[in-house]
Amino acid sequence: MLGEAKLKALQDLINSATQDEIIWMNGYLSAVVFHAAGNRPLEISPAKNGVNKITIVYGTETGNSKKLATTFAAKAKKNGINAKVVGLDQYKLTDLIKEEYLFPIISTHGDGEPPVAARKFYDHLFTNGYELGKLKYSVLALGDTSYPLFCKTGEDIDDQLQKHGGSRILPLQKCDVDYEEDANAWFTNALQALHQNGNAAASPSPIITKKSSGKKTYTRKVLTNINLNDQGSAKETYHIEIEAENIDYLPGDSIGVTPENPLSIVESVTRLAGIDKENIVNYKNEPITIQELLQKKLNIFYLPERVIKKYAEIVQQDIPDTRMDLLDLLRIYPVKNPAQLKEVLTMLEPITPRLYSIASSPEAHNGELHIIVAKNYFDINNEIKYGLTSDFLSHLKVNNTLNFYLHPNAQFRLPEEDKDIIMIGPGTGIAPFRSFIAQRDSMGTSGKNWLFFGDQHFITDFLYQTEIQNWLETGVLSKVSVAFSRDTKEKVYVQHKMLKEAGLFYEWLESGAYVYLCGTKDPMSIDVENTLLRIIEEQGSRSKEEALQYLDQMKEDGRYMKDVY
Ligand SMILES: Cc1cc2nc3c(=O)[nH]c(=O)nc-3n(C[C@H](O)[C@H](O)[C@H](O)COP(=O)(O)OP(=O)(O)OC[C@H]3O[C@@H](n4cnc5c(N)ncnc54)[C@H](O)[C@@H]3O)c2cc1C
Ligand SMILES: Cc1cc2nc3c(=O)[nH]c(=O)nc-3n(C[C@H](O)[C@H](O)[C@H](O)COP(=O)(O)O)c2cc1C
Repeated sequence: MLGEAKLKALQDLINSATQDEIIWMNGYLSAVVFHAAGNRPLEISPAKNGVNKITIVYGTETGNSKKLATTFAAKAKKNGINAKVVGLDQYKLTDLIKEEYLFPIISTHGDGEPPVAARKFYDHLFTNGYELGKLKYSVLALGDTSYPLFCKTGEDIDDQLQKHGGSRILPLQKCDVDYEEDANAWFTNALQALHQNGNAAASPSPIITKKSSGKKTYTRKVLTNINLNDQGSAKETYHIEIEAENIDYLPGDSIGVTPENPLSIVESVTRLAGIDKENIVNYKNEPITIQELLQKKLNIFYLPERVIKKYAEIVQQDIPDTRMDLLDLLRIYPVKNPAQLKEVLTMLEPITPRLYSIASSPEAHNGELHIIVAKNYFDINNEIKYGLTSDFLSHLKVNNTLNFYLHPNAQFRLPEEDKDIIMIGPGTGIAPFRSFIAQRDSMGTSGKNWLFFGDQHFITDFLYQTEIQNWLETGVLSKVSVAFSRDTKEKVYVQHKMLKEAGLFYEWLESGAYVYLCGTKDPMSIDVENTLLRIIEEQGSRSKEEALQYLDQMKEDGRYMKDVY
């Protein structure tokens, strides 16, 4: 027990301390106790005696890992440690064997995959032939517990670095979407370990992995849902307006939507399995009917191979390594009884959210949030099937409610008001640019705005044609370049329009314009990026290498931003 005076001094210290400082004190005191129990003498060395050089690498899609990497570097510098921060797309793989202190900060995307920019680094870790004997490291992994492979990339990197001979100075830290607190605790522990000459912190402050508060989910009314494509189009693209009073978003952000499975399919599943859909089961410690569980919580479409394997074990049948819908599995490899279906329910994975770029502007569309949804369809054995979420959203009626969360994207923001911007967004890629232009229009900004848009046909697929023409007439859009691929014999895409205007495009680049690219990743964003490089090379009389360096510099300066999917 502490005497009154000491207790008061301690309380005063705690009351005046920041969260970081409290976490640090916690770690420090744990170490004091550890050493008082007869262990090595405690030594919190000033930086000059501890490690003074570290490398922080980050792999990101939407900017969170980059933001944390720069915050960690700033904290390290304050502690007298020189921190080099490198994006994994820029990281020289040959540097890895030279590293002594490495701190990867990395998110997971897709179905447990690394961010695109980190792919080379990630693959390199799975190759043999090198040892990382002198490497000390710790990984901070970003993810989202609503995905089945939570923080998978961080886990893999942590494992692989160890397999190559590296030693962890702190255990892997996994973070959910509300990552700030856990990340801060990891920063503090990492710095403490570095002060101890990079030896594993004698007693790292426990990172209390609190039960995640998760993301803030909004339930709001649908105000409008219309198909923007005219009759005769091969496409359906829905413009959906949602009530959004008191929701603070910025142009460039997206929303995340977790869809529901169609009731008709859910009923076919329960019928086929011979189970009463009103049966109550436990899901995450809550009672729920089987119907609601299958409709709102569990993914029953296009099950990944890992789930099919578990299904095969339950029904004790040989099933090839493939992806399949639950309904087809039940038809071809039926469960023997309702109890087996209940077992199947325990191994199905949750429905994952899908993102949609916000197409409205908080300034121009006060109290509303708009998204644009392309109905995703594909052909399986001559049967047309629809993407789960886009189909679900396309059927929303006015006054239906929609649950969603905000997914901010710090990597895709408008620049200062006097800067020029070039926006390349064919198809639904137009979404954030409608937000950008409407925002700049309402704010009366002075920077010039050039839009590239494309789709199949001018007559049926020119999304937001009237708005775009109005913006051109009023001058907020300085220039619009459109490409309708199927109106001419030779297909014309936005990249062809960029090439046609290569001289002017390059002039804009040289005078400091920001370039934004949004829409489908493959092949659109790859073709556009190659065209951008070609323009830089040809118009600036540069070699391929120099053109790449020019684009890298633009990325580094935050003048080339992509949001592709
Ligand atoms: C940052 C970001 C922003 C985005 N913004 C937008 C936007 O503004 N507008 C927009 O429309 N989209 C946007 N998307 C894409 C969107 O999130 C969804 O990926 C898209 O709508 C498809 O989702 P879905 O649920 O409809 O399709 P899913 O059901 O997820 O299907 C997707 C694909 O999986 C395959 N597949 C699915 N089921 C089967 C099956 N049974 N058999 C064989 N193959 C199958 C098909 O290839 C199908 O096309 C964005 C994505 C990201 C990451
Ligand atoms: C399309 C998509 C897929 C995702 N897949 C996963 C996943 O499989 N596992 C996971 O833990 N998190 C997943 N996430 C969540 C991201 O890792 C999380 O949002 C993270 O904070 C993003 O960090 P970043 O901005 O550095 O990329 C996914 C997010 C998106 C948008």
